[in-house]
Amino acid sequence: MGLSAQRSFLLILTLSSLFVDVSVSRSFPPAVGLAIARQIPLWLRSIRSSKWISRIWNKLKSFITFKELKLGDREEVLSYLKEYLNIFGYLNSTSQSNFSDYFTLDFQSAIITYQKNFNLNVTGNFDRNTSNMISQPRCGVPDIINDTTTMNSGVSNTTTFKPWWKEGKKELIYAADPENNVTNGVRLLFRDVFDRWSKVTSLKFTETTSFNGSDVRIAFVAFDGRGGTVGGAATDYSLGVESVYLDSEEEWVVRGESDEGDVDLEFVMMHVVGHVLVLGHSSVEEAVMYPVVLKEKKTELVFNDLQRIHQIYDVTSK
Ligand SMILES: *[C@@H]1O[C@H](CO)[C@@H](O)[C@H](O)[C@H]1NC(C)=O
Ligand SMILES: *[C@@H]1O[C@H](CO)[C@@H](O)[C@H](O)[C@H]1NC(C)=O
Ligand SMILES: *[C@@H]1O[C@H](CO)[C@@H](O)[C@H](O)[C@H]1NC(C)=O
Ligand SMILES: *[C@@H]1O[C@H](CO)[C@@H](O)[C@H](O)[C@H]1NC(C)=O
Ligand SMILES: *[C@@H]1O[C@H](CO)[C@@H](O)[C@H](O)[C@H]1NC(C)=O
Ligand SMILES: *[C@@H]1O[C@H](CO)[C@@H](O)[C@H](O)[C@H]1NC(C)=O
Ligand SMILES: *[C@@H]1O[C@H](CO)[C@@H](O)[C@H](O)[C@H]1NC(C)=O
Ligand SMILES: *[C@@H]1O[C@H](CO)[C@@H](O)[C@H](O)[C@H]1NC(C)=O
Ligand SMILES: [Zn+2]
Repeated sequence: MGLSAQRSFLLILTLSSLFVDVSVSRSFPPAVGLAIARQIPLWLRSIRSSKWISRIWNKLKSFITFKELKLGDREEVLSYLKEYLNIFGYLNSTSQSNFSDYFTLDFQSAIITYQKNFNLNVTGNFDRNTSNMISQPRCGVPDIINDTTTMNSGVSNTTTFKPWWKEGKKELIYAADPENNVTNGVRLLFRDVFDRWSKVTSLKFTETTSFNGSDVRIAFVAFDGRGGTVGGAATDYSLGVESVYLDSEEEWVVRGESDEGDVDLEFVMMHVVGHVLVLGHSSVEEAVMYPVVLKEKKTELVFNDLQRIHQIYDVTSK
């Protein structure tokens, strides 16, 4: 596949900050992020309300005195858990509020689906391992979209390939939001990621400086604070534009060693570009398309990712 060769770039990039080539600090402190990164711009309004999500995270974080919850229980935290599961596609509610404090049957079935998707023991209860998984940083794209999941609990295990770009287009152009002033190191990282995916699809990605004219728009935006959602992708079918957002409030690491709580930019970009290529989430922990940010950084496509991308793209011509 030539994938590993692709990675063995002997470029040692110790670029410190994402936006301006300054100091030697490896990561990108949240305080700087708030100063430089923009608020969620209009073109990104199709994504779920970030204010709403951060409210949920804060509530879940404050649920320190963990207590296993089961059918019939009543706890305030349950309404927030429902909001969480609703945002990621596990409940059917269109309203973003007014969830009750009760452990209801539909909540139980959502928990069961979640446990299946994340390879947890299916207890149907809000148990410690389920709680630990929910509190991990993750991708903002729902696991279940239109009642279809590509994860373990899959209603349908066939990928429905629905391109957002104009039919027949073989070359897509991408651009980083000029307001972010990303460094060359970051732009190089973006290019490597697109190249790596391009090798296994029939599409070519080219960088442009014209943000408004690009097919894939990448922006760091102040999203929901540290942790929580680290980034995601949103599709605008009518414009034929895919927006990639990265939470500027994370401690991003650009090709370096990460400490506890840091988020590796290369890994998150690999993942979100998978969404750009219309892949959904995977239950395989080693896969790039697994939605939760685990400790090890994953920048190589594994068998599961390749198997799924091959279902939708014919690469034999490459
Ligand atoms: C959502 O509603 C549809 C139709 O009523 C149903 O088939 C589906 O199972 C529901 N999904 C969830 C996650 O509850
Ligand atoms: C939530 O419930 C209250 C009281 O039942 C109602 O007045 C309010 O309109 C509801 N809000 C939403 C968004 O459904
Ligand atoms: C599931 O439960 C069994 C028995 O308690 C345990 O050995 C196993 O590690 C659990 N698996 C997970 C993924 O939590
Ligand atoms: C929770 O996870 C740990 C580690 O995977 C496992 O050993 C344990 O059995 C799990 N507990 C339950 C109740 O599934
Ligand atoms: C989900 O369903 C809605 C309504 O049927 C449709 O407009 C939308 O394009 C679908 N989304 C995807 C990703 O298939
Ligand atoms: C879909 O599920 C069926 C039945 O479980 C299985 O035989 C088939 O190999 C699966 N297809 C894919 C592409 O995973
Ligand atoms: C981005 O860079 C340009 C040119 O170097 C500079 O004028 C501008 O102030 C920078 N913007 C931000 C938000 O740092
Ligand atoms: C890009 O679009 C935005 C909003 O649609 C507009 O404010 C801005 O001037 C445009 N920039 C260019 C270079 O056309
Ligand atoms: Zn994702």
